[in-house]
This record gives sequence, C-alpha cells and structure tokens, in this order.
Amino acid sequence: MTRRKIVAGNWKMNGSSESVVELVKGLKSNDAVDVVIAPTFVYLPVVSDALKGSEIKLAAQTVSEFASGAYTGEVSLAMLKDFSVSHVILGHSERRSLFLETDAQVAKKVLATLEVGLTPILCVGETLEQREAGTTLDVCNAQVDAVLELVGVEMFDKVVIAYEPVWAIGTGKSATSEQAQEVHKGIRDNIAEKSLEIAQKVAILYGGSVKASNSAELFAQPDIDGALVGGASLDAKEFNSIIESAK
Ligand code: G3P
Repeated sequence: MTRRKIVAGNWKMNGSSESVVELVKGLKSNDAVDVVIAPTFVYLPVVSDALKGSEIKLAAQTVSEFASGAYTGEVSLAMLKDFSVSHVILGHSERRSLFLETDAQVAKKVLATLEVGLTPILCVGETLEQREAGTTLDVCNAQVDAVLELVGVEMFDKVVIAYEPVWAIGTGKSATSEQAQEVHKGIRDNIAEKSLEIAQKVAILYGGSVKASNSAELFAQPDIDGALVGGASLDAKEFNSIIESAK
C-alpha cells in the first residue's frame, strides 16, 4: 500500500517574528508531499498569516488536554484551530523528559486532538540505554499502546506516528535506514495485531538528525513514510532538499 509522504519541521524554541516569516517565504512545497511546520506557540499567528494561500500545513508543538479554564500557561485546541493549525506534535521526548509528560497524559492529548478533528503527530522512541539493553521495540510499542488503549484502533489511521530515537535527536547521529526501518516495521506489526487495515494506513515518520544527505535513503525504506525534522528544518534550503527527496 502506498502512503503519502509527510515532511514535518519542528522548529522547537527557535526564531524571531521576523526570521520565521523569512523562513516560510523560502519554503517550497510540492504536490507529492505533505509539508508541515511547527513554530513555537507565540509565532503561530504570524506564521499562519505568512502561509495564506500555501499548501504547507501548520502544527503546534504540544497542546493542553483540557478544553479551557484555570490552566495558567496552557494553550487549548480551540485556540490552535483559531489560527488554522491542522497538526499537533505530542509526546516529543523533550516534553517527556524535561516537562515530565507521562504516557497517560500524552494519550489524553492525542484523544482530545482527534476529537476536534486535528491530526496528532505522536512521538515515541528509546534512549541509548534502552537500545543497548535490547528493549527498543518494547519501549516504543508501550508508548504507542498507551495511546491505542485510550483512543481505540478504529481512529488510529488519523494518528501520525514519529519514531524518534532519543539518542539521535540533535546529536548529528541519525539511526541508519536499516535500524529505523526495523523499528518502523515493529511498530506497524504491533498495530497490525489489532487491525491490519489500520496498520497499513498509519503514517510513521522518522526523526533524529535527518538532513538532506540522509533523507532519501531513509525515505526509500518501505515503512518510513516521511520525517520529523528538527535542526535541519530551520534552514530553508536544507529543508527544501529534504522535501524534494520525499517525492
Ligand atoms: O522533532 C524533531 C527532532 O526531535 C529531531 O531533531 O534536530 O535531530 O533533527 P533533530
């Protein structure tokens, strides 16, 4: 089954109101690939404006699981919809490790995101210690299962998964295409135990030191459906080359 490729840029806590607009102006989308960019919350309005008339989609880097109310510092899904956000990155390893997001909380956020019709990009991945202990797939599938149990497999084709090995994030040390393919297949096989049909539809992106020089090889793997790019998405030329290699 052919799944449409997705190339998403996670800008993390970078940029200024001027530089993010410049970056958007430099991006080239194409009909064959879904391109998504995720600026920090405060730049969503300015990036949303800059994207008017473009095919490029807008993502947030997290969201509150609550609808509204006394949650100081949080941002709701309704607020994101107000600025034409279509995707939400959830469970990124930086959110899990630095801001102590749990599997249960990530699952609630994914469900809330699906319920308002937005697309969650659910991040999973193992640490170096877990890889060395041989538990990579157990860790990734446990992170996926926590969400599957709450959301149910029927809705899971609306979830995009991003496999991001923690040791490959921002280190310049990407997983090899074989290592990534093995985990992507393991994640898909685990979903297939619940529903083969849904498993074949789910897009699984790879993230962790993706650059123009390694993206084509990663995208050539049968279970790699695109990338969630960090550092390299802050450079329009480099990000455009990654998008181009996904065609
Ligand atoms: O979400 C993307 C990410 O964590 C990967 O970052 O800089 O290694 O591409 P980077």
